[in-house]
Amino acid sequence: MFLKGFTLLGLALATYGRGFSVRRQSQSLEDCPGYAASNVQDDGSKITADLTLAGAACNVYGEDISNLKLEVVYQTESRLHVKIYDADEQVYQVPEDVFPRPVSKDIDPSDSALEITWVEKPFSFAIRRRDSNETLFDTSAASFIFESQYLRLRTSLPEAPHLYGLGEHTDPFHLNTTNYTRTQWNRDAYGTPEGRNLYGHHAIYFDHRGANGTNGVFLLNSNGMDIKIDDTDGQFLEYNTLGGIVDLYFFAGPTPKEVSAQYAEVAGFSAMQPYWGLGFHQCKYGYRDVFHVAEVVANYSVANIPLETMWTDIDYMYLRKVFTLDPERFQLPLVRQLVDHLHAHQQHYVVMVDPAVSTRDNDAYSKGVEANIFHQYENGSLFQGVVWPGPTVFPDWFHPDTQKYWDDQFLRFFDAETGVDIDALWIDMNEAANFCPFPCADPDGFADEAGNPPDPPPVRNNSARPAIPGFPQNFQPTIPTRRSLTRRQYETGKAIGLPGRDLLNPKYTIGNLAGSISNLTVRTDIINYGGSAQYDTHNLYGSMMSVASRNALLARRPGRRPLVITRSTFAGAGAHVGKWLGDNLSQWDHYRISIAQMLEFAALYQVPMVGADVCGFGGNTTETLCARWSMLGAFYPFFRNHAQNDAVFQEFYQWPTVAEAARNTIAIRYRLLDYIYTHFHRQSTTGVPLLNPLYFLYPEDSNTFTIDLQFFWGDDILVSPVTEENSTAVSIYLPNDTFYDFYTHEKVEGTGSYVNLTDVPFTKIPLHVRGGSIIALRAESANTTTELRKQDFVLWIAPNATGHASGSLYLDEGDAIEQPETSEIQFTYDNGSFKMTGSFGYPTDNVIADITILGQPQAPKVSLLQEAIPLTEEWSRDLDVKC
Ligand SMILES: *[C@@H]1O[C@H](CO)[C@@H](O)[C@H](O)[C@H]1NC(C)=O
Ligand SMILES: *[C@@H]1O[C@H](CO)[C@@H](O)[C@H](O)[C@H]1NC(C)=O
Ligand SMILES: *[C@@H]1O[C@H](CO)[C@@H](O)[C@H](O)[C@H]1NC(C)=O
Ligand SMILES: *[C@@H]1O[C@H](CO)[C@@H](O)[C@H](O)[C@H]1NC(C)=O
Ligand SMILES: *[C@@H]1O[C@H](CO)[C@@H](O)[C@H](O)[C@H]1NC(C)=O
Ligand SMILES: *[C@@H]1O[C@H](CO)[C@@H](O)[C@H](O)[C@H]1NC(C)=O
Ligand SMILES: *[C@@H]1O[C@H](CO)[C@@H](O)[C@H](O)[C@H]1NC(C)=O
Ligand SMILES: *[C@@H]1O[C@H](CO)[C@@H](O)[C@H](O)[C@H]1NC(C)=O
Ligand SMILES: *[C@@H]1O[C@H](CO)[C@@H](O)[C@H](O)[C@H]1NC(C)=O
Ligand SMILES: *[C@@H]1O[C@H](CO)[C@@H](O)[C@H](O)[C@H]1NC(C)=O
Repeated sequence: MFLKGFTLLGLALATYGRGFSVRRQSQSLEDCPGYAASNVQDDGSKITADLTLAGAACNVYGEDISNLKLEVVYQTESRLHVKIYDADEQVYQVPEDVFPRPVSKDIDPSDSALEITWVEKPFSFAIRRRDSNETLFDTSAASFIFESQYLRLRTSLPEAPHLYGLGEHTDPFHLNTTNYTRTQWNRDAYGTPEGRNLYGHHAIYFDHRGANGTNGVFLLNSNGMDIKIDDTDGQFLEYNTLGGIVDLYFFAGPTPKEVSAQYAEVAGFSAMQPYWGLGFHQCKYGYRDVFHVAEVVANYSVANIPLETMWTDIDYMYLRKVFTLDPERFQLPLVRQLVDHLHAHQQHYVVMVDPAVSTRDNDAYSKGVEANIFHQYENGSLFQGVVWPGPTVFPDWFHPDTQKYWDDQFLRFFDAETGVDIDALWIDMNEAANFCPFPCADPDGFADEAGNPPDPPPVRNNSARPAIPGFPQNFQPTIPTRRSLTRRQYETGKAIGLPGRDLLNPKYTIGNLAGSISNLTVRTDIINYGGSAQYDTHNLYGSMMSVASRNALLARRPGRRPLVITRSTFAGAGAHVGKWLGDNLSQWDHYRISIAQMLEFAALYQVPMVGADVCGFGGNTTETLCARWSMLGAFYPFFRNHAQNDAVFQEFYQWPTVAEAARNTIAIRYRLLDYIYTHFHRQSTTGVPLLNPLYFLYPEDSNTFTIDLQFFWGDDILVSPVTEENSTAVSIYLPNDTFYDFYTHEKVEGTGSYVNLTDVPFTKIPLHVRGGSIIALRAESANTTTELRKQDFVLWIAPNATGHASGSLYLDEGDAIEQPETSEIQFTYDNGSFKMTGSFGYPTDNVIADITILGQPQAPKVSLLQEAIPLTEEWSRDLDVKC
């Protein structure tokens, strides 16, 4: 195997290495001359200059590009754009139709919170705050290098900075600033190891400076890169990319929430989710047939644990091929009965779709070949890898006909009348993942050797199967039928290459855990339709599939909000889809780090619909881990239990403690569902995040800067899970503020220190309500979100130290993209005086049935309301309370 691989690699180098000039002895980066600026044009909002190589080329990792252009635009009061690109405009830039650029207001620089200054030779620039002159970014720390296959830009930073972001990673929320490298190259990352490149690429960081404010820096560049943060030679952050251009957006903040909102203007406002999507989801790889799936649905019902949505992994596919059903285990009439059953009980169904299409006997393959939309070599032969079904080809999302191909597959396979009537979609393996190691010269041979497609589990003797509660007697298999398909000949496609680069083995090596950048993915020398190369666009693959898949769902059900959950993302993905955090493990450290990951996606990257696999994906979970995780998961925006095929079953009903923990906490989540839905709406319209790391709300309290085991759900519910195995205690930080115990409503004065909670049972998660808030809860939980929406509301008023509180409630129909009738209600409370104002366009019979002021003596409980408050008009009253 080794010898074979070795020979093939040698052959590949011989083949693909041809055509590159032999360069002179490589020099060191210290010899790089930098650039000199000239021809500076300053027209106020926009500054341009020419940058010329300031000495002999160093050509360390490619050829130095002699002539560059600088373009600076004061885009808004809080956003500055700096772009440095080659004068010939040949170097790859992230395409506008993949990442639409924000509208610039082209403001007068004196109206900007930021200011740029520069030094002409060697060229460097600095970004400062205009009001304080504080330097936020300064590239004079090392010479700027712009080569054909390497770009280096370093900024100096204050000592021991507080940096966050640069995902996707499983490192601490507060980034290490010593000898730390973040490699960005999307990868199928089973086990989500720390310190490594994972599935997504989000090159934004937040630089938090306490009372001096927070600023954000986003590099719009999809090339593979290492971002290095170190304090040798002064504290710095340095971008080292394999190509692309310098395309930087600076955000002034000055609060962390404002940086989030300012980034959302560039990345796109997040897609609003359907209300039902916030319910509880159950999944597992390895449900052997449709009966097994039905049993899980029935068992949840019997256990009285609300199940909103049932999911099926690749098990449903015939030999793991996308857009097929296993004719024995997942017979279409039975799958349709299962989905009908779910829909009749106000529940939903989701399945997985992968991008890779099997080359073996398959309609999706022949249709794609016919449309000529698969990735191909320059000679027109298809690029093949190996994924679950064995040898596969990969859709080229740049091809103008790929969307129609994808839509057609969805319309046929997911037809509501004749197919699998899914309600939402799960997309996976879209980094893109390929099991066949580079150079993968014999995908068929590799697949057969590796056992792809893997043998499905043997068909069960269904006659011995007991009836499933809630399912009809005729829920029985019929004789399977198999389709037979013919292969079509491939047509010659066109291929346009970018000149002169080694697209397989760039001299600069990024820290990709898979080694070569072409390994275990689509080869980087594959040219996309339109002429760009996978070398440059690899990191866009998952996001482009996300957009195409969202569009395909919209083609199926026009006008309804698509819920799409993806694994691979690029900056901006949240405007289209949600994200699950990939193949984690059933371990306590994975439980803990999921909090930081969730905060990063929701609060920093603008992907608010995010969650980790609850109870863990790989390996066997335990009763106590799953109990704790079921409760933490109830505070993930996306709440799904999922496990690997060979892991023990971990549905919440498997253990009494877990069942009780899940029942308790799902009830809390559901009662608060409109509260978090209101925050979802706010994020999708303003970018202000629905989750808050503690420092977002207490930016001047340095104790909060490193906290990543507690968070605010919305602005006002502090979630403090127990984080150690077997423990029933947790030490939690309470900022200097007023809080109320969620369960007892007792006032707890925070003092800016840690408090030990003890005797926290395995069925309870510590929660506190922040003083100053008014929270609208449903009066009761329900078995589904449809039932939940029929419940009345109650208000909890949590006064702050001066007796004030405020809150809001957004109401709409919950599923359509266009919402002509909405309510945006504000509640305020001021020492006894309560007001409800706002707009009341959403018609509802639900009322505010009761109001509770937290921190009041509990018994005897006297209702503060004589009568219920309709949610249809303004209302105010002095509430009869003794404070
Ligand atoms: C910022 O610098 C300018 C000149 O560079 C100076 O006039 C101004 O007073 C400074 N502002 C502060 C707050 O230091
Ligand atoms: C940061 O990285 C350095 C060097 O790798 C290591 O010694 C240190 O322990 C890390 N610090 C944290 C907080 O992880
Ligand atoms: C920096 O980190 C690398 C990889 O983690 C390690 O091999 C090296 O020893 C570290 N260097 C220092 C100075 O800590
Ligand atoms: C805040 O700014 C002041 C003055 O510019 C500086 O002395 C101080 O170090 C800064 N603090 C932080 C945390 O960056
Ligand atoms: C939930 O309750 C409603 C009303 O009783 C019922 O119609 C529906 O079938 C139930 N759904 C589930 C999943 O239990
Ligand atoms: C590709 O990945 C496999 C599995 O991790 C590894 O064994 C192999 O060395 C890698 N090959 C290259 C060319 O990086
Ligand atoms: C998980 O449990 C199953 C069943 O007890 C066992 O066969 C398997 O080896 C376990 N897996 C691990 C990783 O421990
Ligand atoms: C937790 O308890 C289990 C069962 O008693 C035990 O096997 C395990 O070692 C304990 N873990 C720790 C970290 O103490
Ligand atoms: C807590 O906050 C109050 C009111 O903002 C302030 O007066 C007090 O000094 C703060 N205490 C601490 C320890 O920071
Ligand atoms: C909380 O518990 C930790 C660990 O048991 C202990 O070190 C700390 O002193 C305790 N803090 C308080 C305020 O009791």
